[in-house]
Amino acid sequence: MISGDRRCLVAGNWKMNGLLDEAMAYIEALGENPAPEKVEIAIMPPFTLLHPMGERLERKGIRLGAQSVFYEEKGAFTGSISPLMLRDAGCHYVILGHSERRDILHEANEVILKKLKASWKAGLEPILCIGEHLDEREAGKTNEVLREQLSILEGTDPAAPLTVAYEPVWAIGTGVTPTLEQVEETHAFVHEELKRYGRTCRVLYGGSVKPSNAEDLMSCAGVNGALVGGASLDPRSFMGIVEAAARAVS
Ligand code: 13P
Repeated sequence: MISGDRRCLVAGNWKMNGLLDEAMAYIEALGENPAPEKVEIAIMPPFTLLHPMGERLERKGIRLGAQSVFYEEKGAFTGSISPLMLRDAGCHYVILGHSERRDILHEANEVILKKLKASWKAGLEPILCIGEHLDEREAGKTNEVLREQLSILEGTDPAAPLTVAYEPVWAIGTGVTPTLEQVEETHAFVHEELKRYGRTCRVLYGGSVKPSNAEDLMSCAGVNGALVGGASLDPRSFMGIVEAAARAVS
């Protein structure tokens, strides 16, 4: 169902959290061999922690990712980080289109598309985030919103590596999650939409995932892993989610 028979992915988006000492203690707390056979683990710390964390995570079989990127390779773009710099720091993944960047930093589809292309050019795998606001869900516009956000894939190479994350904005950081029925229904729609662009890829669920709901969410049809915010900041709760993922896929 997913191209290349890929493992499910549990990815921790640390957002704007984490200092060096905390990151080192976190890695220590993950133990020797944290990744179960059927689960891939990735961590997306802030830019400042990419270099110090990269090799240490790699030794534990954990992939590194960044939370954003700029679309130019280099030059006079004060404050920006390029895809090549992310590769240089050891990143495999980069999160694009997160709702916090769409809403707070006004990142529009056109900019996200430029970042997508630049990331592919540098050899990164984007995790493209999509999701509707509460008023849009209540107005029955969820599919319309997701279709529009996915439309940037039109004309892109279906072989370029991609993971999609469905993150309903109203579930992010709120402790509220959609019903399992809503999750299955929406993931089925996203997988269908992706076919329009010749793609079969992993679709993660994100929004208030924690150890207590992770197994149910990741057992839903069409859910191929989780993008975790708050609960990824504590190594024990993050590993609780990884273990739940292993149970869900077994
Ligand atoms: P929470 O897990 O804190 O709800 O955040 C989800 C998220 O935005 C991951 O990208």
